[in-house]
Amino acid sequence: MVKTLIFYIKMALVFVLIIDCSQSNRPFIEEVDNLKVDTLAPFYHGVASGDPLEDKVIIWTRVTPENHENEISVNWQISKFSDFRKVFKNGMFLTDADRDYTVKVDVEGLESGTSYFYRFESYGKKSITGRTKTINSLSESLRFAIVSCSDYQRGYFNSYSSISEEEDLDAVIHLGDYIYEYKSRDYSNGIFDRLHLPDKELITLGDYRTRHSQYKLDRDLIEAHRNHPFILIWDDHETSNNTYKDGAENHQELEEGNFNERISAALKAYYEWQPIRENSKPYRNFRFGKVADIIILEERLEGRTKQAVSLDDSTLFESNRSMLGDIQLDWFLDRLSDSESQWKIIGNQVIFSYLNYGRPDFNINLDSWDGYPVERQKIADHINSNSIKDVVFVTGDTHRSWAFEVNHIPLESNMPIKPYAIEFGTPSINSGNSDEWSPDIPIQKLIDHENYIMDPTMNPHLKYTNSRDHGYMLLDINKEKVIATWKYVETLIRRDKSIKEIKKIESISRSNKLKLVNK
Ligand SMILES: [Fe+2]
Repeated sequence: MVKTLIFYIKMALVFVLIIDCSQSNRPFIEEVDNLKVDTLAPFYHGVASGDPLEDKVIIWTRVTPENHENEISVNWQISKFSDFRKVFKNGMFLTDADRDYTVKVDVEGLESGTSYFYRFESYGKKSITGRTKTINSLSESLRFAIVSCSDYQRGYFNSYSSISEEEDLDAVIHLGDYIYEYKSRDYSNGIFDRLHLPDKELITLGDYRTRHSQYKLDRDLIEAHRNHPFILIWDDHETSNNTYKDGAENHQELEEGNFNERISAALKAYYEWQPIRENSKPYRNFRFGKVADIIILEERLEGRTKQAVSLDDSTLFESNRSMLGDIQLDWFLDRLSDSESQWKIIGNQVIFSYLNYGRPDFNINLDSWDGYPVERQKIADHINSNSIKDVVFVTGDTHRSWAFEVNHIPLESNMPIKPYAIEFGTPSINSGNSDEWSPDIPIQKLIDHENYIMDPTMNPHLKYTNSRDHGYMLLDINKEKVIATWKYVETLIRRDKSIKEIKKIESISRSNKLKLVNK
């Protein structure tokens, strides 16, 4: 009996080995293979870094296996020298198919305010060299690039290319819509030859992984990541359009399955493919010394209740309607009142200020904070009653640029309130904006509309908007002032990182007022 049992165990082991060997010898083929550049093998997706602290930073890459291997070892090095003549830290990371062969290391024991170079090695080949930087808490001035909304299908990532050449960035803050979930040609004007992979709306883990992989094979995005650390948070399109914690506008349970399973798949792929620290909560803050706290909010999945359907929706002013949810809201208010930094920079996905879009068919965006007035009022009350100064919201989502003196006007009243913060909106990297959605409308009409909604009778606190251009925003911060600089790229239809226009607006500390620096 025992002999028979041993025989069967041995046979089972041989069977497992045979299966294992045949798996290992099977070539690894992916839908994105045509996008890979041979010279980058096996690190086709480049390198990335993120979530810098004073003594830590995440470094990231993805090794593409030659065959379906169970495990791949990847060596990493970090150095103060671009030629690695002296290695500061090094180690080995084992990756496998369960994490889509991505590599993420939280490098500890680094020196503050220091630029580092890093690289990976596997299969006897080295990755490109990345550059990153730890937080300098003694720094007197800071510079960030603020970005959102990059849609592969809508043209080239020239904005990322331009950002890769920006000097002295402390980090790139990405406010979400890093990928879009639509199938090819959806949410696209169809003039570009950059179609989404896979050619379906993202639902499964495999779908989300392929889409992240496709985006990270874009050479302009590779260059932006290789040159600067990123601080990332998702908005809705990393999962599904207009997400809230229990559902999304673009999720149909009958055809697309269980919502929570879809979100788990999307977030697993997100964490695999982004250089983000895997804390228990996605909202988090970064202390850049006495100059600024960067407070990153999560406005989709932690606590957001379903969007109201109209301004007449009886639930609009209900107190349980929330964008952040109670736990995150408490955390956020504590971060604001406990901050010892001059500026409190809020990484915010959707517009915080009251905003009347002034269109016959669309005035108030109920997916933004205008749709969550009670929770917004709590934030306003907290800032005002604690006399918290120098709060700056930086915001993505709308595919257009904005500058507000934040004095949200209650929806039921026309009475402006004294400004208690400022808000800067960043344009899209390349996602569609007004002129592309309505190509037949002359540009002058769009400019006229921008001027119309900046009229004091419409949005008295709105000091600048641009609905036509794509690009990014730089934020320069010192104790005296914060300066937002919008940089607009010349084109999306060819690889060309030329900047056609620059706009600057500054705000002096404790003023909550905006001043145009150039016209
Ligand atoms: Fe977007």
